[in-house]
Formats: sequence, C-alpha cells, structure tokens
Amino acid sequence: MNRACAPGKIILFGEHAVVYGRPALAVPVMQVQAEVEVLDSDLSGVWIEAPAVDLHAELSTLPPTLPIASVIRSVFQHLNISRFPPLIVRVNSSIPVASGLGSGAAVSVALIRALSAALGHPLPDEKVNALAYEAEKLYHGTPSGIDNTVITYARPVYFVKNQPIETFRVKEPFTLVIGDTGISASTKESVGAVRKLWEANPPYWEKVFDEIGRIVQQARQAVELGEVQLLGALMDANHAFLQEMGVSSPELERLVLAARSAGALGAKLSGSGRGGNMIALIRPDGQEQAAAALRTAGARNVIVTQVG
Ligand code: PMV
Repeated sequence: MNRACAPGKIILFGEHAVVYGRPALAVPVMQVQAEVEVLDSDLSGVWIEAPAVDLHAELSTLPPTLPIASVIRSVFQHLNISRFPPLIVRVNSSIPVASGLGSGAAVSVALIRALSAALGHPLPDEKVNALAYEAEKLYHGTPSGIDNTVITYARPVYFVKNQPIETFRVKEPFTLVIGDTGISASTKESVGAVRKLWEANPPYWEKVFDEIGRIVQQARQAVELGEVQLLGALMDANHAFLQEMGVSSPELERLVLAARSAGALGAKLSGSGRGGNMIALIRPDGQEQAAAALRTAGARNVIVTQVG
C-alpha cells in the first residue's frame, strides 16, 4: 500500500492580481489534509473511492475531464504505462471543497505522489507540481498555479506565474485565524468576473494590479523582518482592492469586520472570494476572542494556524 498526504493552503496576499503576472504570497495550512492510499486489488481495473464527493467508480467509466480521473491518467501516461494494473485508489480529505483552501490541488498532489510510488516510480516535486497544474486547469480554467505550487512544496511561497518557485523566511512566527463563510464559490466564475472588468478597462486595472503587487512586496519584507503590525495594515489595504474588484460578499465582509473589531491586526478575504474563506492576523493571546467573534458573525468553520 502506498499512502501520501498533502496540506491545504491559504493565500496571504495577491490573489487575482497573480493571474495577471503580479506576485502573491501563500502558505500551507497543515491542520487540514488530503490523503490518498493506493492498494493492490483483486478486481480488474482502477477503482476510485472518494466518499467526500460520493464517488465510487472504475476509471474507464469516468469522463476524461473529471480532475481525479484526469490526474490518474496523466500519471500512467507520464510513466508510459498503457495497461493499467488492478488498483484501488482511496481519496480522503478534511479540506472543505470550493472554499479557497486548495482542496482540489491537495488531492491532485497526494494522488500523484501515492500513485507514482505505487507504480514503482515516485515522481520528484517538480513533476508532481507540473502534473497537478494540469489538473488545476480542469478545476479553474486559467489558474496561476499558486495552489499546486504551495501545496507541492508545503512551504511559504512567493509566487509569480511562470517563474521558478521562491520560498521566503518567516522571521517571527505569526498567528492567523481562518474563517469559512460556508459558501462554496466557483474560482472559475470569480476569475472570469475580474477578467470582464479588466477587459472593459485594462489601463485602470493594470494600475490596481500594480498597487497590489507593491503590497505583496512590502508584505514579504514585513514577514522577513518580523513586522507584524505592518503586515496587518497591508492585509486591510489588499482587502480594499479585492472589494473594488467585486470579489467580496456580505458574508465575507461580516467576518472581516468582526475580526477587526475583535482586535485583529488586519483581515482580508483569501482566495477567489465571493464566499470561501477570510483570514485575520491576530496576536497569539487573541486567538480565542477572534475565533469566537468569527463564529458569532456566521463563520461555519474556524481554523487557527501558525505561520513560520
Ligand atoms: O480560491 P483559491 O484559493 O483557489 O484561489 C484562487 C486564486 C486566484 O488568484 C483567484 C486564481 C489563481 O489561479 O491564482
């Protein structure tokens, strides 16, 4: 039996602008995981069991566009295996789906690792990342690649589309509270809506994306120097631009305001928005107060995580 896990992730800064070539910062969230087991089977074919999405089927009966099926086929293809051995692929994940925590990318990464190892050819991170990116295209259309990258390497990343991966140093560990609106939102639609705005006025939005890019640079520096107070202010500034892009929502706003009132140093939506998650930067001794405030303001799930 081969087993692999991959963490969730959260985008700290730069979502959406990252699609247009600006940098973004993302970190793994180890509290939630996708886990894949690959076992030998007595039945012929490759059987996929993914109870979280109510899937129990043999690979050949699944459409090629289904990400799990596509990832499995891509691993076989990459390893030049045309006769599929009898296998059971078991997928379990504690990462909420469509909430900005990277559930799709985490399943892809764990699946590529477990399956390639079961086939006797464990793939290196670079290849795992490249194959997971292909699956991300099925989920999202035109993904920047940030999700699969931070999840593959399970380290804080400074990400620029089509550039080699860069990790960064966290001088003083800091605490984030992640609040889930419980509303699943489509990344594809949210990215598409921003695309429409950009198409209507490219010069204006390019300037906005430049501003966000500057915030990301400052944020990276603040993390590297341990300037937590500044980091909070930068989160608020980034959130204001996301509001302007129309990717916030009343539920996200409620959570962001509740976190700030409960003493957060800064708060913003995280990921594609219109639902999903928000993050708040808090002092370590303020986590209970912030978590309680988020629950009262409607958060369905709250995760406290340390970065660094
Ligand atoms: O919703 P998430 O966390 O998967 O984030 C998507 C991030 C975007 O910048 C909106 C899109 C992308 O591909 O980078």
